[in-house]
Amino acid sequence: MHAAVISAADAPPVYREHPDPTEHDGDELVVEVLAAGLHHLTRSRANGSHYSSNGMYPLVPGVDGVVRDREGNLRYVVMDDTALGTFADHTLIDPRRSVILPDGIDPVQIAAAMNPAMSSWVALRRRVDFHAGQRVLVLGATGNAGRMAVQIAKLFGAAQVIAAGRDTTRLKALAALGADETITFDQIGRAADVDVVIDYLWGDCAADAMIPMLTARADRTAPLTWIQIGSIVGQTAPIPSAALRSARLQIVGSGIGSVPARDFLAELPELASAVAASAIDVRARAVPLAQVTRAWSAETADRIVFVP
Ligand SMILES: NC(=O)c1ccc[n+]([C@@H]2O[C@H](COP(=O)([O-])OP(=O)(O)OC[C@H]3O[C@@H](n4cnc5c(N)ncnc54)[C@H](OP(=O)(O)O)[C@@H]3O)[C@@H](O)[C@H]2O)c1
Repeated sequence: MHAAVISAADAPPVYREHPDPTEHDGDELVVEVLAAGLHHLTRSRANGSHYSSNGMYPLVPGVDGVVRDREGNLRYVVMDDTALGTFADHTLIDPRRSVILPDGIDPVQIAAAMNPAMSSWVALRRRVDFHAGQRVLVLGATGNAGRMAVQIAKLFGAAQVIAAGRDTTRLKALAALGADETITFDQIGRAADVDVVIDYLWGDCAADAMIPMLTARADRTAPLTWIQIGSIVGQTAPIPSAALRSARLQIVGSGIGSVPARDFLAELPELASAVAASAIDVRARAVPLAQVTRAWSAETADRIVFVP
């Protein structure tokens, strides 16, 4: 078979022949890969910078995807940390980490959507005590995960969703997806009274937003839950101590580890159905896996999905 193979942390993947996978025990299943998304997690696990990577090379990247099993079922699978990911013609999955997909789904849409969508879906369902009627700020709302967070917060009954970002054209487009208000970072004080922040940026961007938001809150004793999900702007954030004293701020993270794998897996069927039913707008671009080296570092607003 063919696969994308990475030989070292700083090397891009190369499309080449690779031995076929074989099943070693009853928990493994060889499957055909139909579509696999190129997410931030895919790259950071492959280059060893993600906290869940094992730093072993060579490896075939690919943290999730849509596969076909021997019975012909289409499944969405989340891979464990493995040397054989989904950027291959075939891979080896643990079926317990997969969900059978409804008939008629588009593998490319599912492969593009599940990772970014899961970030806010699982955070709001499993990490914090979110309930309908609350107000939400999405920090970094113009990316794939951010756009979906806007839609998912609305789907879950948020009374108000404020979308914050740096690109005014992309921000404007979020109104059609349910954003009640769109703001740039210098207008962050307008989000002072939200109940929940879904933060994809972290770094200086999160730290700089806190004091203007917290000091402008109508009721500083009202809880504000800040969910740290992505760190596009910085891995660390210089949070002012006053931020933690001046209002009832609690900061929590949501991701692999802080949410148990069983909780992620339990949410997959409903999320897959929502994507299949077009309840969430997805930006996907299918690319042949043979073009993986060029596409690996491409800058695109659409989520690249490799098709073997
Ligand atoms: N914890 C989890 O469960 C989980 C799951 C999925 C993703 N994530 C993380 O969430 C983050 C976002 O993922 P994604 O798939 O949405 O990525 P993406 O599609 O590449 O979007 C990146 C976003 O970051 C913004 N951005 C980039 N550089 C910026 C800067 N210097 N200042 C301000 N904004 C900047 C972009 O704004 P423009 O539109 O202006 O370029 C865009 O909104 C990543 O860190 C990813 O690893 C976490």
